[in-house]
Amino acid sequence: MSERAIGVFDSGVGGLTVLKEMLRLLPGEELVYLGDTARVPYGSKSPATVLRYALEAAAFLVEQRVKMLVVACNTASSVALDELEERFRLPVVGVIEPGARKAVAVTRSRRVGVIGTEGTIASGAYTRAIHALDPTIAVFSAPCPLFVPLAEEGWAEHSVALLTAREYLAPLMAKGIDTLVLGCTHYPLLKSTLRQVLGDEVALVDSAEETSRTVEAMLNGHRLPRQSDPGGPRFFVTDIPTRFVRVGGAFLGRDLNGVTQVSLD
Ligand code: SIN
Repeated sequence: MSERAIGVFDSGVGGLTVLKEMLRLLPGEELVYLGDTARVPYGSKSPATVLRYALEAAAFLVEQRVKMLVVACNTASSVALDELEERFRLPVVGVIEPGARKAVAVTRSRRVGVIGTEGTIASGAYTRAIHALDPTIAVFSAPCPLFVPLAEEGWAEHSVALLTAREYLAPLMAKGIDTLVLGCTHYPLLKSTLRQVLGDEVALVDSAEETSRTVEAMLNGHRLPRQSDPGGPRFFVTDIPTRFVRVGGAFLGRDLNGVTQVSLD
């Protein structure tokens, strides 16, 4: 079992922010990544639809004989974790609890902003996760639906992204937050744009690092660390790979050769 790969999925390129951190922290593990690029974004879909997509993505990875699932998508993590665990009987790691934990550790003023897709913000998952750790923290949330298409387009540092970020972040900055949770795995791609708007005083919480540490702890807890040399990561997408290869390759800093297109339904 321990020699199997870890399956990671997201709606598109965003989950590569988590994959990148896993490659750094867990170089001995083989990783299989699925980007559901034919159906991105998940964030504007209903919880029932996102749950169905997540179950289909997980079923595909389970067919690849993975030993663990990482849901590198906040929208899917906010609605599907329990069902995935129950259905597939594998360790499942999502991104919300690790991000919430980091925000609670980082904030000094106890005023935390959370940005995410419409689905993630409407679910209230971050507010619940933060309050479960510290109910005295004030949480202010804002959906930022245009960030996902901007990241997928490779426009994360375009002037359109800067203008959009100014509009979305103004109400949160007016609340005096000192910490901003990037509650969507696509958003770290916009980090330098967000930094231009927020300045240096607001801490940006990207759950990728914390999620990778959770994966490492879970591998150890289940006695699943791999013993033999892994191959490089394998990539699957549900639409033609052209844009994924371009944007994802630039982000990961390596050529994404051999990305395979698959159908989930
Ligand atoms: C999306 O597909 O809308 C974004 C994925 C996420 O929520 O992390």
